[in-house]
Amino acid sequence: MLKTRVLTGDRPTGPLHLGHYVGSLEERIALQKEAEIFILIADVQALTDNFKNPEKVSDNVRVVALDYLAVGLDPRLVTIMVQSQISEIAELTVFYLNLVNLGRLEQNPTVKKELAQKEFGKEIPVGFLAYPISQAADITAFKANLVPVGEDQLPMIEQTREIVRRFNRLYGNILVLPKASISKVPRLIGIDGNEKMSKSLDNAIYLSDSPSGVENKVMKMYTDPKRIHPTDPGHTEGNPIFTYHEIFNPNAEEVADLKKRYRGGKVGDVEVKHLLVEAINNFLEPIRRRRVEFNENPKLVDKILKEGTEKGKQVASETLFEVKKAMKINYSF
Ligand code: TRP
Repeated sequence: MLKTRVLTGDRPTGPLHLGHYVGSLEERIALQKEAEIFILIADVQALTDNFKNPEKVSDNVRVVALDYLAVGLDPRLVTIMVQSQISEIAELTVFYLNLVNLGRLEQNPTVKKELAQKEFGKEIPVGFLAYPISQAADITAFKANLVPVGEDQLPMIEQTREIVRRFNRLYGNILVLPKASISKVPRLIGIDGNEKMSKSLDNAIYLSDSPSGVENKVMKMYTDPKRIHPTDPGHTEGNPIFTYHEIFNPNAEEVADLKKRYRGGKVGDVEVKHLLVEAINNFLEPIRRRRVEFNENPKLVDKILKEGTEKGKQVASETLFEVKKAMKINYSF
């Protein structure tokens, strides 16, 4: 059987956080020995809502690359690429634009939600509305059959599958139909209790936060609003401090004991939070160590990006060649 081919990516608009880790990075790390993994730093996609502020995107390309390397993605096993430098993706996007109608894009639930959050007003950039199409180009350029993503990305994979089916029906069986793979924790609650950890909501703990940064954030974390005194019985369900303990504290006995005492009004928030600070900092420790190593060697990081992008360009150009041939635009002159 063919090796699984994975494509996934992130927009470089800021450092990656714990939500990225449990939503996708963890699965990439687990897969890297057995699958062929391509990871895209999606700067072109990031520009669709940051085109007035391009430095925000370009400044974060290396930030995201460092996060990848720090969490333990191994550049000998995975291919890390920069989207804007692979023009084949843009070409594929142009061809796919024909295969999607406007109404379908407007109904994409993730795009809808994002449009509501952003301040485009009536002036919705076509590039923004069409980014699911360029994401289909990202995925299909590498003939990926598996895409590990957070829950909010499911509509993008569905859109990609529609494009693949339509393309293959019209022009012949060229593109690979991808599947999404959703992690155990598809969406991590924010430190403010919001359902999603995100940079724009300012409720994130970053993989690059310092030990004291983690402490400050955890000590401020939203817990059970109905609980006023440590002797009041508290709720652990949907309470971020316990959600995080379950994920980041490997000491299951300690977590079970804390929960029991919390529900019984026998432990205060502060104690639960102190133990959580410790758990998260232990979790981040090896990530911090690897970050220092790569940080001290920026030339190596550049080399990893250069070689990864070159390899990606090679693969994408093979797909583009087949696509053009299938579309009868491979002229011989
Ligand atoms: N849209 C994704 C996000 O916002 C990033 C992304 C770009 C992506 N291209 C991709 C994810 C291809 C999976 C596959 O996080």
